[in-house]
Parts: sequence; C-alpha cells; structure tokens
Amino acid sequence: MALLHTRRLLAAPRLAAAAARASSWWSHVEMGPPDPILGVTEAFKRDTNSKKMNLGVGAYRDDNGKPYVLNCVRKYVTVQGISGTGSLRIGANFLQRFFKSSRDVYLPKPSWGNHTPIFRDAGMQLQAYRYYDPKTCSLDFSGAMDDISKIPEKSIILLHACAHNPTGVDPRQEQWKELAAMVKKRNLLVYFDMAYQGFASGDINRDAWAVRYFIEQGINVVLSQSYAKNMGLYGERAGAFTVICSDAEEAKRVESQLKILIRPMYSNPPLNGARIASIILNTPDLRKEWLVEVKGMADRIISMRTQLVSNLKKEGSSHNWQHITDQIGMFCFTGLKPEQVERLIKEFSIYMTKDGRISVAGVTSGNVGYLAHAIHQVTK
Ligand SMILES: Cc1ncc(COP(=O)(O)O)c(C=O)c1O
Repeated sequence: MALLHTRRLLAAPRLAAAAARASSWWSHVEMGPPDPILGVTEAFKRDTNSKKMNLGVGAYRDDNGKPYVLNCVRKYVTVQGISGTGSLRIGANFLQRFFKSSRDVYLPKPSWGNHTPIFRDAGMQLQAYRYYDPKTCSLDFSGAMDDISKIPEKSIILLHACAHNPTGVDPRQEQWKELAAMVKKRNLLVYFDMAYQGFASGDINRDAWAVRYFIEQGINVVLSQSYAKNMGLYGERAGAFTVICSDAEEAKRVESQLKILIRPMYSNPPLNGARIASIILNTPDLRKEWLVEVKGMADRIISMRTQLVSNLKKEGSSHNWQHITDQIGMFCFTGLKPEQVERLIKEFSIYMTKDGRISVAGVTSGNVGYLAHAIHQVTK
C-alpha cells in the first residue's frame, strides 16, 4: 500500500510534465546532425581495437600519445577566456553591426568547418575563393589570386594567418606579398584567424609574419587569436579579438562598442586562462621556456611527417607523398579518398575526418609504422 502510494506520488508530476511537453514550443526543433569532427572521436571511443588511433581532432599529443601540459603552464594556477571560436564570434558580430559596406565574408576553399556557422549565425553571408588544389595537394595560388581579384571592393576576406586548417598549406612570403597587394587594390577588410601561432614553423614571430606585413602595408585588419593550442590551454578558452584602428580615439570608440556587444553575450570573460597567458607572455623566464616548448611541439610534428613518409617508402608505396612534408602545422591533408578513409577506420581502427585530414599531433614514433602500413594497404 505504501509502495502504491509512493508510485502515485511519483506518477503525478511525471504526467504533468508529459502534458507540458505535449504542448512544447520546441517540438519543431529537429535533431541537429552530428559534428563531423567530434563524431570521429565518438566512434574512436567506442572502438575496442588496442591499436586504434584518433587522428581526427587537432589537439597536440606528446610522443606517448598523451595530452601535453606545458611546464610553463603547470607553474601557475589557472585563468580562463573564450578562445579562438569565441573571439571569431565577437568579430563576426562586430562586423555585422559596424561593417556597413558589405555582408559578404570570403572564406578559403576549404576552410575550418566552424567558420561558416560562426559568420552565418552572426548574420553575415559566406562566399568562397579558391585556395587548395587537390591535384597537387598544395596551394592553388593562381586560382586564389584570380578569385580575389574579382571580390567586390570593401568586402571581407578571411585568411588563416598560419598553419591553415584543414589543408596544412600556407602561402610563402613572396606569395603573401602578392596577396597583400591584391587585397589592398580591392580595398578589402582582412579578417585574420590565428589559431596555431608557433605551430607552423616553431617560431611565433615567423608565424605572425603575414599579419604584421599586412598591417605594415596599411591594410585594414581584424584578428582573432587562440591560445588553446600554442599554450596547451584547450579547456581554459583563452583567446583575443583585435581591431587595428587608425588612432587612439577610434580605438576607444571601437572598444566601447565591443563591450556593448559582449555584455549581453557573456558579460565578462572568465579570468583563468587569460591570466595564465598574460603571466607567461610577461614573465621573461616563462616566456623563454614557453617559446622553447612551442618549438618542441612544432618540431615533433615535423619529425612525424618525415617519419610517416619514410615509413610509407619502407612499406613499398610508390605514391608521391611529398605533400606530407611540404604541408605545415598540426594538420595534413593526405589526399586519401573517402572510401580509403572508410577502410582505415573499419579495417585498422584509424580515425580521421572523411576529407582525409589527419592531425599529425596524434602520430607518435610508436604508431607511425602502423599508420604507414595501413595507409599503404588502402592506397596500393
Ligand atoms: C582555423 C581555426 N580557427 C579557430 C579555431 C578555434 O579554436 P579554439 O579551440 O581556440 O576555439 C580552430 C580550432 O580548431 C581552428 O582550427
């Protein structure tokens, strides 16, 4: 009897909740598609193969395949920010509100998958310019120049400052100069996204070269930065959005409007990650240590590229894999076809996005041989 009574007590609110749900205002909200990159990790987690590899997600791993907490970060207790994504979104909303001459944002083809929803959700329109040539697995420079020369004046162009994601293909300095001249001629606003400063060359100054060059040329630039990868602050979400203004007075006005934009979004950024980043950048010894560690991470990735190619040769592969070592940064666009990626997942438990992009940070001297063997098996 007591039990029955209890059940009734429990059932009543459940019925009330069910009635409320029946008249829900959100019944038309459809299930969203799984994220193409995070979905790879879900599949990886479910896999029980002891040799499994996750090359889908671009988070740096050490040579034992473990997440790497940089020593210079370890020495401080925490601070937090909103990272590259949040900084891009602030920028997108700022442009939506204040960039009056155009709604159009031109993205490289391909670009990081999240660029499109970030700008679209902020009310901007997405356009594209040629960037990558799948035939050569390298930069389609003439295609890019040709497309950029036709972008209507006073539009916005997004450029990856270094270590282009997903292709790993960056312009050389002479090509950046030609791009800058074209962008200036078309009077475009440049939106630089710099999520991997230090990961391309191992040197944060070299990787910031293009951004500095464009600013020196008097080109209008806005910039989003992430400290997630180069400081290993993934969960801390430390990032920055910058607008280059013509003078201090303009900067004050722009800053006041950025604050007005941010206030209803999240009011204030969390302090933790930003404080770590600031302490590292402003403490000479830590800064020195950080720069050495950034170089260490970049060098390990470069060495994995070399080892992958030499292991592919050892396997007997006759394909030209030079693009693996030519490309830079965390990612490598292998040129593998979707059906080959499918086989790598099914037969070898090697996970990556369908476009054949691998995060080289997931490769170690312990598993590079297995990866080369598997790639050879599906490409021979
Ligand atoms: C090109 C590019 N921009 C921005 C981001 C965002 O980085 P965060 O993790 O700091 O939000 C990423 C992350 O993958 C990226 O690849």
